[in-house]
Parts: sequence; C-alpha cells; structure tokens
Amino acid sequence: MESKKTVRSLSGFKSEGRKITMLTAYDASFARHMDEAGIDSILVGDSLGNVVQGRETTVPVTLNDMVYHTRCVRRGVKQALLIADLPFMTIRDRDHCLAATTALMQAGAEAIKLEGAGPVVRRVEELAGLGISVCAHLGLTPQTVHHLGGFRVQGRGEREAEKLHSDARALQAAGAGLLVLECVPRDLAGEISADLDIPVIGIGAGAEVDGQVLVAYDALGITHGNRPRFSHDFLADAGTIPGAIKAFIDQVGAGNFPGKEHGWD
Ligand code: KIV
Repeated sequence: MESKKTVRSLSGFKSEGRKITMLTAYDASFARHMDEAGIDSILVGDSLGNVVQGRETTVPVTLNDMVYHTRCVRRGVKQALLIADLPFMTIRDRDHCLAATTALMQAGAEAIKLEGAGPVVRRVEELAGLGISVCAHLGLTPQTVHHLGGFRVQGRGEREAEKLHSDARALQAAGAGLLVLECVPRDLAGEISADLDIPVIGIGAGAEVDGQVLVAYDALGITHGNRPRFSHDFLADAGTIPGAIKAFIDQVGAGNFPGKEHGWD
C-alpha cells in the first residue's frame, strides 16, 4: 500500500528524480478515482470557476465556493496531497489571507496555493511561519489575467525571464514548499526547476520540470471548445476515466508527457 503523500514526500521525489503528478478535482468521485490510481497530489483549483461554473475567468470564484469543493474532494482522498487554491483577493492582506487559509484547511486542505510574487512573498512567509504548507504559482496567473492582457505565455525575453526566475527564488526563500509554473517557455522552466530545491510542477512549461499538473476536465476531454495546447485528451486514448488517469500518471512518470507540441520555446 502506498503511503500518505505530503509536501515533504514530493520534495523527496524531486531528489530521487521521480516525476510528480497532479490533477485538479472538484468533487469526491473524481478525487477517489485519482487517489486510487496513485496520483501524488490533487488540486482543488479555482479553475472550477471555468470548468464547473462556466465562467470566463477565475475572478468570480469565492472562498465559499472553494470551501464547498474542498470539502467534497476531501471525502474522496486518502493518500494524495490535497492542495486548495486561495481565491481572488483573499491574499490582499495578512488577516484575510489567514482567515481564508483557516477555512480551506478546516475544509480538509493540507496545503494552499496562491498566485503571484511581490507582496505575495510576504503572505508566503507569514503562512510558512505558522506551519502551513504553501504552493506558489507563477507565470500565467489566471487571477490577474486582465492585467496580463489575456491568457498568454509568460517569461519571454531576457527581462521578463530574469524577473520570473528571481520571483521563484524569493518565494522559495519565503518558505514555499512547491511551485506551479504555468505557460512558461520550456528552457526557462527547466532552468528554474534545476536552480530551486523545491519541486516545480509545470502546466504548459515543458518536460524539464519536476512534475506536471493538468485541469482534469482538459485531460478528460470534457472542456468545451479548444483544448489548451498544453493539455491532452487522455480519455480519448484510454476509454475509461480510471484508465485515462492512469495513462496521465504513467506518461508523466515515463517522461512521455508533455511532448514538444504541448509547450513553447
Ligand atoms: O486553478 C487551477 O486549476 C490551477 C492549475 C491550472 C494549476 O491553478
């Protein structure tokens, strides 16, 4: 029987060179399939705003929404590390951040994820100082999509790349235990992953990182319209949901996913 996954064990996987697998889930049934398939981590992403609620962005997702879905997912998970997203603007100051983190942890999260750097580094320091496991998120940060000018690749050009790299170092120094890098050129993501001690989990960030995360609805072909370039419909290949989850885990583990076509130079 596999043992309980923690931020610490994921960090051990990085040291061993074993790729880390993460999928999003929003309910107990999907979470149970993922857990039983041996996924390392399940993220209750605020992408639920897009794929469950049918919204254009994650900005309208509330703390109550996140707490509700975290409770649902908790009931399906035994072994995977359960991470929940701090939704839009709950990190605006220390008190709101602590209150939102308390609500998510009491709903069953074991770590929380938050987007951005700059003033967010301070929030990471505060949470880590209180013994909360934190997953940082850089690159394309969907909560600031309006400011970024749309869903675009981030970290292109020397200045942007240096800034992203130094933000990643600052978040690690502040106590983040994991980092998600979204839509970042593959070489930059590989450099950051090699430089940091903490695991770097990519989505649209190439294969040279420590693990991969996908929005489950993309990976299962449920998402309407164009599937993001960095994703793949594993259900179309495997034919069943448990088979698709297993295929994702196996292909990431073997270094066969993502391929070149799923990322950017
Ligand atoms: O909300 C989410 O699902 C995420 C992943 C895309 C990493 O942040």
